[in-house]
Amino acid sequence: RANMKPVTGTSQVTCTAPVNIAVIKYWGKRDERLVLPINPSLSVTLSQDQLCARTTVAASLDFKKDRIWLNGQEQSIDAPRLQKCLGEIRRLARKRKHEEERMGDLLGCCVHICSENNFPTAAGLASSAAGYACLVQSLAKLFHIDGDVSHIARQGSGSACRSMYGGFVEWTMGKMEDGSDSIAKQIAPADHWPELRVLVVVVNAGKKAVGSTEGMQTTVKTSALIKYRAEHVVPSRQEEMRQAVLERDFQTFGEITMKDSNQFHATCLDTYPPIFYLNETSKHIIHLVHRYNQHHGKIRAAYTFDAGPNAVLYLLQEDLPEVLALFHHFFPATTNNSERQFVRGLPDVQRKELSADLLDSVGLEPSPGSVQYIIHTKAGEDPQVLTDPQQALLDENGLPK
Ligand code: DP6
Repeated sequence: RANMKPVTGTSQVTCTAPVNIAVIKYWGKRDERLVLPINPSLSVTLSQDQLCARTTVAASLDFKKDRIWLNGQEQSIDAPRLQKCLGEIRRLARKRKHEEERMGDLLGCCVHICSENNFPTAAGLASSAAGYACLVQSLAKLFHIDGDVSHIARQGSGSACRSMYGGFVEWTMGKMEDGSDSIAKQIAPADHWPELRVLVVVVNAGKKAVGSTEGMQTTVKTSALIKYRAEHVVPSRQEEMRQAVLERDFQTFGEITMKDSNQFHATCLDTYPPIFYLNETSKHIIHLVHRYNQHHGKIRAAYTFDAGPNAVLYLLQEDLPEVLALFHHFFPATTNNSERQFVRGLPDVQRKELSADLLDSVGLEPSPGSVQYIIHTKAGEDPQVLTDPQQALLDENGLPK
């Protein structure tokens, strides 16, 4: 518990939290207020070396009110989801106060929160999941709350509950009315499948699409397909996917990942009025992956898309040289997105010489500049506490550095 002083002055905690990418998608709530899903979901938590949110929270009797800064800008603390997370943490802390001497005056303090992402928000990556997971983890540490707090992160943003754990994570639907059993659980640790690699393909996109909260509301209201999906497709898929992960069965893992992404986007098209998250580049990536897999007669790469046009590819390490070479060939960088930085993250791998046969099988017209860059990463750990005060985002007065 380094980095925390008893509350005579300011106590402060800094954490980082990961992004997660679902292979069984969450889309649709049965309870808006508690953020309870209509189906279970399953995701891979990504390494924080490449993508993470960082948050510092401080509590002091000197603070006049609760305040929050996001990516350098002060924001309203009254945002309902933020209030829900803060309220839930304080409620839990109050419940435990009698057994926790460490709690001291904390409950009488206002808090300052400062948070940022180490990746451009404009990239449209799952920033709310990492952000809320980081907020809840930091507050839980600050208020000395042990045990699972994924049910609190869930109320910030549904997918955030899965970012509370590392590796391969399942979000169970739960049955309880108060949502206390709708929580995230790790099914396998980050090092369970070391050969599994992740490429986040950042697509050059125009204007922002419909947000997920609003999008899924309209889907639940208007789509018959989403009901069928939740009742008759996801339950067995979730089981199959869990098994595929446990057995490191990439064929099954990849096939279900692609099918589930496609079905999620089909429910978006079935929404009235329809929602389109994929753009032309997304569709080219889908074609590329299928033709590549077909060429080899097995699944070597699997795509998945969230509420935007960026692709996330899952693949095995041994196939990286060929897959990266394909992206360089069909989505070459232009001078605007310099070649040097086209692949970021884990050390770049030697690209494979592509056979004329394979290029012919893929058969796409190269489309320079339509992919901005690619982040090469892998599965990673749960939220971490940073003990070095230099890494804190708030100074000793509780103001952004
Ligand atoms: C497509 O968790 O962002 O990424 O609960 O309304 O905050 P809210 O939605 P959010 O939805 C994520 C949807 C998704 C699929 C997924 O991550 O499972």
